[in-house]
Amino acid sequence: MEKFIIRGGKPLEGEVSISGAKNAAVALVAATILCDEPCILENVPEISDITKCVKILKEMGADIKIINRNTIRFDTRNIREPVVPYELAITMRASSYFLGTLLGRFHEAYVPMPGGCDLGDRPIDQHLKAFRSLGATDEIINGANHVTAKRLIGSQIYFDFITVGATINAICAAVKAEGLTIIENCAKEPHIVDLANFLNSMGADIRGAGTDVIKIRGVDHLHGVTYATIPDQIEAGTYMVAAAATRGNVLIKNVIPKHLESITAKLRKVGVTVEEFDESVRVSVDGPMVKTSLKTQPHPGFPTDMQPQFSTLLTLAEGTSIVTDDIFDNRFRYVGELRKMGADISVDGKVAVIQGVGGLKGAPVIATDLRAGAAMVIAGLAAQGTTEIDNIFYIERGYENIDEKLRGLGADIRRVYTEDKGAAKLSS
Ligand code: EPZ
Repeated sequence: MEKFIIRGGKPLEGEVSISGAKNAAVALVAATILCDEPCILENVPEISDITKCVKILKEMGADIKIINRNTIRFDTRNIREPVVPYELAITMRASSYFLGTLLGRFHEAYVPMPGGCDLGDRPIDQHLKAFRSLGATDEIINGANHVTAKRLIGSQIYFDFITVGATINAICAAVKAEGLTIIENCAKEPHIVDLANFLNSMGADIRGAGTDVIKIRGVDHLHGVTYATIPDQIEAGTYMVAAAATRGNVLIKNVIPKHLESITAKLRKVGVTVEEFDESVRVSVDGPMVKTSLKTQPHPGFPTDMQPQFSTLLTLAEGTSIVTDDIFDNRFRYVGELRKMGADISVDGKVAVIQGVGGLKGAPVIATDLRAGAAMVIAGLAAQGTTEIDNIFYIERGYENIDEKLRGLGADIRRVYTEDKGAAKLSS
């Protein structure tokens, strides 16, 4: 097992470059199944969720060539069995994207129930609703979703609520269906637009991605393409908050400022200076940081994937902040770990009340999931003293070389290897 050891209290200074977007790249990698020729993805983040998605494709028979650490060539023409291996599928939520892509190409998919961060119940009823609308049937066999369709016929899909994953899966299942599909009440995240742009560059006919109505005319053939993933808005936001929490001064490069608007607005609200340039933002703090109220929303609202990181910042802001995150059942499991560092937070269901404290103190903590792990890193960087973070495998799922990038900003963070006692558990 590995841990991070952080000696905090040092302002982050300098420049950091953002990698490709995890939540776009996992969808694009799965969508290579729909391509009838070899294709190349660039700016792919070197993170464990991508490694697992690539492994799934290989196990199914795809020919994969790693051109360099962030460029991969995919040839999925030799895939014969639309079956995803159990031990890989259960490790991440993104494995659910193989349902839509395998169904879209083979009219059949056999994918174990997806895993992913423990944020409460994460069903896939809306994904299945989309597939059924297109003419598919589904059943659970040995704990896996088995979805089949004699034909996929374009239809109207109306989601009961906004869901990123189901929007992505509906697009992938419909892109080669017969006729017109209209998907309503869609998610509008940047990674939905990135997926539509990727598929359209292969010859698909997808209009309206980024709005709440997406129209897809099915096509028979998708030709090869070379495509670069968008920068990661959540990685960028994480470094923005880390710069603020350490009262540093950091230029965050290779970003799309428009994707960061809700994060920038909230940082400015608490007194942080954010300067926007064409492909970068600079974050610095001069005066005191002050309380705010925060409610996570689907894009373009404040992203739930930034809630743990921003809540950590609010532990250092003057006054009492209120954070509401009702996208998932429970995204506050990390709060107990912050309390070990002196944070004053109380949680009631999907609402956290955060009383600002003068500072945090280093302590041994664990990452409870991917973004909670990033929050622990931010807390450790801001705290006086030494913080040990266990279960950093969660963090490695979504942040490329986070310790290397932070050392480049002057952080005292190192990775240590400890005997493998299995994942550390939350104290009851
Ligand atoms: C994606 O998860 C992201 N994961 C999550 O990021 C992100 O938090 C989430 O979107 C919201 O932006 C990937 O892209 C791989 P949803 P997803 O479907 O697709 C419920 C991270 O940290 N729901 O928008 O699972 C669901 O339980 C990860 O990078 C149903 O009830 O999110 C949740 O409460 C964490 N039925 C809510 O909707 C369904 O069929 C939103 O889920 C689908 C979803």
